[in-house]
Amino acid sequence: MAVGIFIASSVYAENPKQDVYLHQLKDVSGIVFNPKDQEKFTVSTPHGIFTVRDNGLVKKLNKTPGYFMELISHPNNPNVMFASGYVSKTEKMGVVRTEDGGRNWQELGEGAKGKASFYAMTISPINPRILYGVDEAIQASRDGGKTWQVISPIQGERIFEIAVSPLNPQTVYAGTFNGLLKSEDGAKTWKNIGPIDKPVVSLEVTKQGEIHAFIYDYGYISSSEKSLKWKRGAKFFQNRALLNVTIDPRNPKHIYGVSDTGAMMISKDSGNSWASFEGHQYSSAKRIKAGKQLYEDNCLACHGKNGIGENPDDPAAIDDNGLPLAPSLNNTMHAWHHSDKQLILTILNGSPRNERMIAWKEQDLTREDAENLVAYMKSLWNFNSLSCQGPRHMSCMH
Ligand code: HEC
Repeated sequence: MAVGIFIASSVYAENPKQDVYLHQLKDVSGIVFNPKDQEKFTVSTPHGIFTVRDNGLVKKLNKTPGYFMELISHPNNPNVMFASGYVSKTEKMGVVRTEDGGRNWQELGEGAKGKASFYAMTISPINPRILYGVDEAIQASRDGGKTWQVISPIQGERIFEIAVSPLNPQTVYAGTFNGLLKSEDGAKTWKNIGPIDKPVVSLEVTKQGEIHAFIYDYGYISSSEKSLKWKRGAKFFQNRALLNVTIDPRNPKHIYGVSDTGAMMISKDSGNSWASFEGHQYSSAKRIKAGKQLYEDNCLACHGKNGIGENPDDPAAIDDNGLPLAPSLNNTMHAWHHSDKQLILTILNGSPRNERMIAWKEQDLTREDAENLVAYMKSLWNFNSLSCQGPRHMSCMH
């Protein structure tokens, strides 16, 4: 976390006037949508509350400091949000509330045993006076977050996430280290309802009663609350985890999640495939297809079929001038160590070190062409490369 704070604050401190994008922030902890606002959504991070435009441009909202660990919105008024976390590295925040979409925050309640720092919270859509929060225990509030009672202590069971049913405020789901649990008595007693006893690290129940979860080492699952017949989405995450899964109410096929690397990821097909939020505007099937065509016409001769590189058997091989051959553009070398912006610039301006990689803008390739090429290249990457893209790769352990 310390590294994340350093990266984000340095982005702001060094370039106070420069645009900052979501992929430059670390550790998005909560995602909130306003169903009426198609342009942007709101995220909490340890370094503040931000609005995010569809192209990733972020704007910091809150004036008061705080390490925000969770952010949820009132079911009937998205300008009303609740958050928790820490005020400073040592002082817990309790529960705070905003009425103006995240700019100003007021203290709402402490928690059952002094100030809580809830890392997971949920609010009942049919009775918004009922909230649940998780820190060392599961706590519940019946007066809109002012006062809290301990419901169940966590007995050796690590709870990652909690979600309440839209049908009944007493029906609660918990993502735990050993599976997905359901309670029908307001979080007092639990039974296992998941397809497998592995860590359920993120969980959400939509207003339509669809449960979505990410299970470590198993993948993305969803089911209606009623049937509990689990449908499996994407399975291969290379031991990475998908945290803070949130369904976009403006388009329920769109699911946002945060990789354990801190990168925002997005699925536009209900969790079956995942792309990085960085560049998602041009990662459509249509633009990937256009990029593939451009690649085959202009790049394949050197970078190889499907981006495998000029000499896949010997990636370190050099040419007659002692320069490296055309590198792979898939997962195998380090194309994914560059941000989209850097890749686009390399394509348009060429390599300053090797004149074989020419400036493609001089061959009439446009910026849109370069974006399509990057979208195609990224369609060859796995979840690990996508969620470790750019400067993040340095802190990305394999
Ligand atoms: C004549 C051979 C050749 C062609 C054609 C070519 N490249 Fe390259 N490309 C190279 C070489 C060689 C390098 C390594 C440059 C360096 O070491 O600085 C490179 C580097 C790159 C890089 C940087 C990769 C990294 O990991 O840093 C990207 C991205 C790239 N090329 C994309 C493309 C695209 C897209 C096209 C087609 C529009 C293309 N290249 C066409 C030879 C070529």
